[in-house]
Amino acid sequence: MVRERAPGVNGDRTHRVIGSAISGLLGGPHPRSFFDNSGAAPYNERVIPDLKGFIKPGSEEAKLARQLDYSRLPRHVAVIMDGNGRWARERRLPRIEGHRAGAKAVQEVVEACGRLGIKFLTLYAFSKENWKRPKKEIARLWQLLEDYLRKEDKQLLKNEIRLMVIGQRDEIPWSVRRELERVEELTKSFDKLTVVLALNYAGRAEILDAVKKIWIAGDGDPASLDEETFSRYLYTAALPDPDLLIRTSGEFRVSNFLLWQIAYAELWITPVYWPDFRRKHFLQALVDYQKRERRFGAIHARTSRSS
Ligand code: FPP
Repeated sequence: MVRERAPGVNGDRTHRVIGSAISGLLGGPHPRSFFDNSGAAPYNERVIPDLKGFIKPGSEEAKLARQLDYSRLPRHVAVIMDGNGRWARERRLPRIEGHRAGAKAVQEVVEACGRLGIKFLTLYAFSKENWKRPKKEIARLWQLLEDYLRKEDKQLLKNEIRLMVIGQRDEIPWSVRRELERVEELTKSFDKLTVVLALNYAGRAEILDAVKKIWIAGDGDPASLDEETFSRYLYTAALPDPDLLIRTSGEFRVSNFLLWQIAYAELWITPVYWPDFRRKHFLQALVDYQKRERRFGAIHARTSRSS
């Protein structure tokens, strides 16, 4: 598994420039943290138009954006998108309309991650347990995903976003799988932002699959198996562990999602239903995340798990 540095250690140039552009745009003083690692970041014309369309000066989002330290954003955000059904029920709509509205929220959060410079976003879009739902809802949900992939591929290409899938793909309907694999192939060279869709995914099944793979590979002596080696057999072998896990709709559960990987993730739970989740809520989660002290079991806060 890639043991990434915890976010905020280096604060790459993109973050510094975005930070500078945001604070300039929003009319406030440059928060010192934008420049902590580098001295004054140069004013960069290229970033301004992007941010202008993204955050309205004077808005609540603008206030939140100004509180952020762009050198300490989470590297990997994972989301349990919950509440689509309740959102629809409250509007006397069929459940699929909740999922459809949820797909719009997905677009907004993907865009936010791209603009802010968050590197990995993992979305829990279909769990292995979701097969227990009515057949009609399941079929429509897969159709929605297929349509989303057909429509969004151009946006992913344009914005250099990589798409990856985790989960047991063999059981994913064939036409959806074909689309997923097409878009995965199309975007595999991008590394600006990776959007990971957890589909037909379950954390316990992933751990069992890893055990089976290790068994088959005969990878070393079981007595010396360590976390690093084990992680290489998970679906997420190429990804850093999530720093922040967001769950919508007010449920305090992890629902079999990334059980191994969220060992040290910060949890952020909001009562907002997923279809109502907007960049404002995403920014709130990020601001809150930055107030947390991440100790990874030690006494003092650390900036890196390995240091
Ligand atoms: C949970 O809400 C949500 C899901 C099982 C599906 C999530 C799918 C989407 C947001 C649709 C599109 C996804 C992508 C990636 C384009 P729920 O139905 O369990 O809500 P409830 O708990 O209120 O019933």
